[in-house]
Amino acid sequence: MLAWFRRMRESEPVSHDEEAGVWHVFRHADVERVLADPGTFSSDFSSFMPAQEDVDRFIKGNLLRKDPPQHRKLRTLVSKAFTPAVVARLAPRIEVIADQLLDAKAGADQLELVADLASPLPVTVIAELLGIPAEDRPMFGRWADSLVAPESQTSFIPNEDRTKAMAVVMREMNAYCLEHIRRRRAAPGQDLVSKLVAAEVDGQRLDDDEIVGFVGLLLLAGHITTTALLTNVVLCLEEFPDVAAALRADPSALPGAIEEVLRFRTPLAPSMRRTTREVQVGEHTVPAGRIVLAWLASANRDERQFTAPDTFDIRRAPNPHLSLGHGIHFCLGAPLARLEVRIAVEKMLGRWSGMAVADGVEYHDARGIVGAKKLPLHLRWA
Ligand code: HEM
Repeated sequence: MLAWFRRMRESEPVSHDEEAGVWHVFRHADVERVLADPGTFSSDFSSFMPAQEDVDRFIKGNLLRKDPPQHRKLRTLVSKAFTPAVVARLAPRIEVIADQLLDAKAGADQLELVADLASPLPVTVIAELLGIPAEDRPMFGRWADSLVAPESQTSFIPNEDRTKAMAVVMREMNAYCLEHIRRRRAAPGQDLVSKLVAAEVDGQRLDDDEIVGFVGLLLLAGHITTTALLTNVVLCLEEFPDVAAALRADPSALPGAIEEVLRFRTPLAPSMRRTTREVQVGEHTVPAGRIVLAWLASANRDERQFTAPDTFDIRRAPNPHLSLGHGIHFCLGAPLARLEVRIAVEKMLGRWSGMAVADGVEYHDARGIVGAKKLPLHLRWA
């Protein structure tokens, strides 16, 4: 993939892939331009997907798939309930959850990072944020896994069969979320869903379907990507052993290291858009109504933007990577993802004097997600 990106950035930075029916964009400046112009590069793909009630309902509150002005309404409302202060207050709870998960493996000389920490940590945090009962949490992992199953990625736009299969999972998620929202309307608590139910901007509130879509988005967007990032941190530490030593010696370097892992192993490789008009990108004219894949993972290695882009440098500054997006859709969960991963890595480095990747690593085979879905580790305890 990286060799392909390098070749394409050089020779065909904007290229038409007739077989896949998409246009690829590879350079940092062009990717940024695509993401910065939602009027020309839309996030609404409903015209490409077969209509399906459950999918439509799921998408109604999914701000990732909305353009202005609906996007602004949803984002303003959910931002009110999902502020940096709300996220910062979660830190002590994230510490406790990470400790509990690692305590369960105390003294073990091996663990499987995804099942034991990287997946349950973000799922538990999001579920707590949403006020969802602990016993229901295993379902989320299952839902998330089915929606990003490899077959969903043979094409970036789901075909009829795939849409039907997704609809089955979405129906289950929609019903569950609706029930949860109704309970919260009847008896509000301190959780995010209660806040979303009450949130109001310019006299506008979110309806149940919009909240369902947002909850679904959080469960998916906040889970797989954060899990992938945590596995990517460990894979980078394995590849660059002196970095682990540097981080133990100077933990204040950890936030910079996490940004560099985000750049170096981009968890979500492309962002997808649809052209609303004919548009010039670089030297190419992209017709109206086409799918554009803006490759964040390629932009992050663009030698026009980064000095020594293939060098892993935890002190890189500035580090204008695009792994969390850019423009109006910039990742709403970025502070949470950074916080969770920082706490998890601090705990791992604090507890273990050494870790090494063991046999049996499995990488995501879904196009678009970069990270491990199984990461066995040998541990040495401090
Ligand atoms: C949007 C990446 C974690 C919630 C995005 C986008 C990217 C991204 C690239 C923009 C996509 C686009 O423009 O097409 C990531 C990565 C994460 C992460 C790499 C982890 C390392 C999270 C978490 C949450 C979250 C933890 C919430 C709990 C969202 C939401 C949006 C979004 C709601 C849509 C924002 C909008 O459309 O206005 N994320 N994300 N993400 N992310 Fe994240």
